[in-house]
Amino acid sequence: MKNIIIKKASKNNIPVVLGLLYELDRPRPQNNSEAERFENKVKKYMNDTDKQILVAKLDGNVIGVVSIMFLARLNRKTPEMYIPELVIAKNYRGKGIGKKIIKYCVEIATKKKCHRIRLESGNQRIKSHEFYRKIGFEQTSLSFTKIV
Ligand SMILES: CC(C)(COP(=O)(O)OP(=O)(O)OC[C@H]1O[C@@H](n2cnc3c(N)ncnc32)[C@H](O)[C@@H]1OP(=O)(O)O)[C@@H](O)C(=O)NCCC(=O)NCCS
Repeated sequence: MKNIIIKKASKNNIPVVLGLLYELDRPRPQNNSEAERFENKVKKYMNDTDKQILVAKLDGNVIGVVSIMFLARLNRKTPEMYIPELVIAKNYRGKGIGKKIIKYCVEIATKKKCHRIRLESGNQRIKSHEFYRKIGFEQTSLSFTKIV
């Protein structure tokens, strides 16, 4: 897919960005006030200087999203790029868009002199593990979670 454009998300993109996150099995808002809270969180994320939301667009429509954080590490001189969310819309998977969006992240990480890019992927997401391996990521750690 050649006509894919990757750019920073705008406020107009917030509903579709949230829609894509539901494809990651994230909770849907239960009422209007919760929906508003989610939207405000995305807005704040977009305005924070240590975070970014990028969208992949085809013919003006958002078909993918990635969120990025720049994390300071205590014993490192340069930040780490952390990717909390990456989703390509169901009908557009397997067409090279995920790879393109990650390539764009690598360019940003290089510009910002990040020492690495890191992300977590749930045990059940076998397909995405294959995707990450294919595009040059290595499995370097185990992730431990405690629900509170
Ligand atoms: C995982 C995801 C982001 C990958 O994006 P994508 O656009 O479908 O992947 P691409 O088409 O760019 O694939 C890039 C490469 O990975 C390979 N790949 C992708 N999925 C694969 C799979 N399930 N098994 C093996 N290889 C795979 C492709 O063959 C391609 O290889 P190539 O460069 O040699 O052609 C996308 O499928 C998705 O949104 N999945 C659901 C949400 C999700 O799991 N997100 C990740 C959360 S951690």
